[in-house]
Amino acid sequence: MALVTTKEMFAKAYDGGYAIGAFNVNNMEIVQGITEAAGELRSPVILQVSKGARAYANHTYLVKLVEAAIIENPEIPIALHLDHGDTFELCKNCIDGGFTSVMIDASSKPFEENIALTRMVVEYAHDHGVVVEAELGTLAGVEDEVAVEHGKESYTHPEEVEEFVSRTGCDSLAIAIGTSHGAYKFKASQCTRNADGILVPPPLRFDVLHECIKRLPGFPIVLHGSSSVPQEFVQMVNQYGGNMPDAIGIPEDQLREAAKLAVCKINIDSDIRLAMTGNIRKYFAEHPDHFDPRQYLKPARQAVKDMVAHKIVHVLGSDGKA
Ligand code: G3H
Ligand code: 13P
Ligand code: ZN
Repeated sequence: MALVTTKEMFAKAYDGGYAIGAFNVNNMEIVQGITEAAGELRSPVILQVSKGARAYANHTYLVKLVEAAIIENPEIPIALHLDHGDTFELCKNCIDGGFTSVMIDASSKPFEENIALTRMVVEYAHDHGVVVEAELGTLAGVEDEVAVEHGKESYTHPEEVEEFVSRTGCDSLAIAIGTSHGAYKFKASQCTRNADGILVPPPLRFDVLHECIKRLPGFPIVLHGSSSVPQEFVQMVNQYGGNMPDAIGIPEDQLREAAKLAVCKINIDSDIRLAMTGNIRKYFAEHPDHFDPRQYLKPARQAVKDMVAHKIVHVLGSDGKA
């Protein structure tokens, strides 16, 4: 199967009450871990590339790695998506360079500017058979160089979504309902603690999600910042020399609930980073004399695969949907 757009994936996901995982890719081991899991579970998948990933690995290397994954996993639909494009030029480069989907994230700009920039990207993208994700509302956390402090984020205003979608022509909409980027999604002061002393975050704003769905029936919604920050990985990092106190994510049962509704794309990056870092730290601690990168990248790649398989089955519900 060649690279696909997300159009058919989202239509089926919407009707089927599941979501497609959008996983960030930065190197070969990450691409392999994600697509091996998706291939074995017959799950459609979105591989997404940020501006930072392009700066790190180079556009061509990433596209060619994804092409290799398609050859190795011919049975599943794979989309290649630009994550958090911030300019028309970046989106155009990716559209011209083989991506099948782009995000224009003008969510930090005033409403009219967000509409104007999104509309411009949509016109170019649609002329080239590419779909566009846009965003309304601001998530807390860090993406590329932009950091939004906790308390400065803003939930999506449902009363704006119809006008935004109809005036821009975007194909999917990322909304802010309490998720955030990175491994520290909530301050301890926003949370309670369970009996084991683990932070329990405030629930996602399902009321905002439901209001958006009411106003945009049948339209695919996207959730960014949806890593669950598995405590198993955080503990592994901390046990083997790391220091990530109070790292906390979005509970998986809430994401599963969202996936059953109109949420068709769920973004996960931090959990990949944690799976790799925890396992590499463990490997180094247990094998201080090893120095072949293949030795420590192998368990890291396996950990990404296992984590993605878990998400596909228990969070996204996309297994068997290819
Ligand atoms: O939303 C942000 C993603 O986790 C990508 O992160 O910009 O550091 O590649 P990055
Ligand atoms: P996480 O930091 O929660 O993995 O979010 C990733 C993301 O939203 C990429 O766009
Ligand atoms: Zn994001």
